[in-house]
Amino acid sequence: MRALGAAGIAGAMLVAACSGNGGSGPSALSPAAQVGQKMFFDKNLSGSGAMSCASCHDPAHAHAPANDLSVQLGGPHMDRAGLRAVPSLRYKDVTPAYADLLDNPDGISVPGPGGGFAWDGRADTLAAQARIPLLDAREMANASSADVVKKLRASDYAPLIAKAFGARAFDDSDTAFANALLALQAYQREDKSFHPYSSKFDLHAGNKVGGALTPAETRGLKVFANPATGNCASCHYQGAGLDGSSALFTDFSYEAIGVPRNAGIPANSDLQYFDMGVCGPLRTGHAPAAPDAANRFCGMFKAPTLRNVATRTAFFHNGVMHSLEQVIRFYNTRDTQPELWYPTVGGTPKPKNDPGFPGYGLITSQYTGGKVRKYDDMPAAQVPNIDTQLPMDGRAPGSAPPMSEQDMADLVCFLGTLSDADTKPAVPAKPGACVD
Ligand code: HEC
Ligand code: HEC
Repeated sequence: MRALGAAGIAGAMLVAACSGNGGSGPSALSPAAQVGQKMFFDKNLSGSGAMSCASCHDPAHAHAPANDLSVQLGGPHMDRAGLRAVPSLRYKDVTPAYADLLDNPDGISVPGPGGGFAWDGRADTLAAQARIPLLDAREMANASSADVVKKLRASDYAPLIAKAFGARAFDDSDTAFANALLALQAYQREDKSFHPYSSKFDLHAGNKVGGALTPAETRGLKVFANPATGNCASCHYQGAGLDGSSALFTDFSYEAIGVPRNAGIPANSDLQYFDMGVCGPLRTGHAPAAPDAANRFCGMFKAPTLRNVATRTAFFHNGVMHSLEQVIRFYNTRDTQPELWYPTVGGTPKPKNDPGFPGYGLITSQYTGGKVRKYDDMPAAQVPNIDTQLPMDGRAPGSAPPMSEQDMADLVCFLGTLSDADTKPAVPAKPGACVD
């Protein structure tokens, strides 16, 4: 939750992105990272024999899924649905460990929950994170860490493992597993494909050829930074990477923004099940004292990096939205037209929507009467945790939203400049759309 003025951000972005990532050629991976690379693409390292890290984190899709499912299928028979949308693995190498009071990196806003991996920050390092999918029964579904080590020992890259971790690399199964997790971490840290800094924005920030933003993109950057309209920078921007390199488009913070429930996730057919992020249930240690007791960590999820966001097809921790435009419209009208995003209870659907009833929401039929059940994916006791910053400042239904149609179109154009050169946009820009 950072406050940063429009002038400040333009300057900060320039300075931040000038240093650091300069175009040195591909450097050779360390032996450990070479092991990690083999593992990353090895489908044998799954209970099904059909799934590797790359199945969900496809390098051709900015290390995110190739399909547009809200959650992926995995498990021993590749038929178990996951609980959360798959994040991109790009630009994660400089993530600090989770802290309830992470020192704010920009020196402006108060410390709060921040850092860590996964949507709830429950893994402190990339190595700790790698353990989760390898053993999760909905994902790679290995029976145990010893099971993984057995597969590594039988793999054709076992000699490489010995080279990286010593001739006695397999003597102790726990050590061998810990080293395997470190290998995956080394690969993600060392291989440039995970942090190419090759977007148009990077060229822009580095004053390089091809980096001139169009008028539409420039206006979009202003909306992104303007605390009175988009205000995106307040959560999705940090002055500089922790290593002093480019802007990461996240400040690593956690907020509750009330993303609507996704009925398409099988786990949600249990109406008592709520994924509440930092307070659990996947993350332990911050659980409410009783099921209906208020707890300030409930409903908080990580504000993810917006780099490569225009390549994504499933958005938010539960993948409930499927286009960037829809996400931006949610930010704009969650409060002013909540009936577009949350179910109406006790009303009657109109036989035909009024002309002008928008079709871009999650709810596409109009109701007479009834009451909108806002924040339908968190227990009522946790609703006070909802963040109150713009663009979702709790303004009254029916009042004017903070962004104009032009603001939102420009914002989409700006976010498109955050895509790496090797990626394709999920929705191809209409010719001329982001020019003037
Ligand atoms: C079945 C799909 C699937 C597979 C296979 C998979 N992941 Fe993931 N990955 C996810 C999901 C879903 C999340 C978000 C988890 C959460 O928030 O609880 C995630 C999160 C991550 C993160 C944290 C990213 C962030 O933004 O904090 C890392 C790192 C990661 N995965 C690495 C790996 C590695 C390494 C492998 C292989 C060992 C792997 N994943 C295999 C689905 C998958
Ligand atoms: C109060 C902090 C805050 C502000 C302000 C904010 N965001 Fe977010 N953003 C978040 C959080 C937290 C999430 C994850 C929420 C979740 O999944 O439950 C998120 C998620 C997203 C996602 C989904 C990314 C993905 O990989 O699934 C997009 C896109 C996004 N924000 C764009 C924006 C834009 C554009 C703006 C400005 C109009 C904005 N955000 C303003 C906190 C914020």
